[in-house]
Amino acid sequence: SRTVTRDADGVVTVAGLKATALAEEFGTPAYFLDEEDFRARCRAWRDAFGTEADVFYAGKAFLSRAIVRWIHEENLNLDVCSSGELLTALDAGMPAERIALHGNNKSTEEITRAVEAGVGRIVLDSFQEIARVAHIAERLGKRQRVLIRVTVGVEAHTHEFIATAHEDQKFGLALGGGQAAEAVRRALKLDGLELLGIHSHIGSQIFDTSGFEVAAHRVVGLLRQIRDEHGVELPEIDLGGGLGIAYTAEDDPREPHEIATALREIVTRECRAAGLTVPRLSVEPGRAIVGPTAFTLYEVGTVKELPGLRTYVSVDGGMSDNIRTALYDAEYSVALASRASTAEPMLARVVGKHCESGDIVVRDAFLPADTAPGDLLAVPATGAYCRSMASNYNHALRPPVVAVKDGAARVIVRRETEEDLLRLDVG
Ligand code: LLP
Repeated sequence: SRTVTRDADGVVTVAGLKATALAEEFGTPAYFLDEEDFRARCRAWRDAFGTEADVFYAGKAFLSRAIVRWIHEENLNLDVCSSGELLTALDAGMPAERIALHGNNKSTEEITRAVEAGVGRIVLDSFQEIARVAHIAERLGKRQRVLIRVTVGVEAHTHEFIATAHEDQKFGLALGGGQAAEAVRRALKLDGLELLGIHSHIGSQIFDTSGFEVAAHRVVGLLRQIRDEHGVELPEIDLGGGLGIAYTAEDDPREPHEIATALREIVTRECRAAGLTVPRLSVEPGRAIVGPTAFTLYEVGTVKELPGLRTYVSVDGGMSDNIRTALYDAEYSVALASRASTAEPMLARVVGKHCESGDIVVRDAFLPADTAPGDLLAVPATGAYCRSMASNYNHALRPPVVAVKDGAARVIVRRETEEDLLRLDVG
């Protein structure tokens, strides 16, 4: 695998610490996250977009109080999509004006909490919500800054992974057919709202810039239409997240500066052509910041050879700590982490310990043929959407997240305990 580093003994290391020592201290399964790498990725996004743009880290990828503090220290903003994420952000000291609240069905309580806290942006997702947020803001004597989320209808042929920008899905208001324009019309009339701009998110794990370019083009088109109809130039465009990362050696992701350059160019060119003031740009990367910074460490429990088929290697976690393989057919790589091996590679399927056959961590991988119980396996690039989507299926205890930096490791999210498991049962 291309994302693990090894020491002279062939043991996988992170920030100067051996996987074997980490497993001994923190147990398995566990996520180990390279703090310096995380911060470097934040800076790469900041530097790529410069001071005339805002970078919102998408907390859904992975959020904890430590993450909020790093984001804050690295001068990023934060995208939250629930009251729970908002609570975590505020609790860790993120200034409310640097938070944007998302969601296609925010509750009255979520909206109220956000408006009261003074979040910088609420991204409006439906006609009902436009009225609801305006009403709540007016009742609180506030004027809430908002964006309207639109679906730009990027055709699926642009790239298979951006099929979520189709108009037939639950998010946003469609540009085609005029719903987005109608939403703008309504929002501009309401005293409780200060409409700052348009938001678009075309999907996730995207490898080329063309989908973003099409989205930018269509959003600028809407800005022009708004100027022509209302005489108002909206000052902001948020183009969402979605930049892909390398899960396997076949993946070839774009860098933040590539996407920044492409977006800046197209927005600037088209705004000038339309006689619009160039709006402030923002983006919301989640996966591209946290995904590559962590790996999951598992211990092998059993090795079952199916002659003529493959070998099933069972680890001590599974779909409760990484649902992505089962849910999206996602691909991961895996590496023997606790030692070097000169054994021949064997075709292996790394599976978890849950009671269903779809409980697969890595569908097809080559591992040394002498992989045996007690060995440690590292699955790289599990920083995004693994801990945040982890479950207690089969009453598994959700694993800890351990931050590693300069040869020191500290828990930033602790392992669940049996006490945690029993605590919610009543009677
Ligand atoms: N902004 C908005 C409005 C979003 O809906 C999302 C992701 C992001 C930003 C961040 O996207 P990213 O840069 O992380 O791709 N659970 C799935 C991914 C769902 C993404 C949902 N929205 C997965 O594990 O692949």
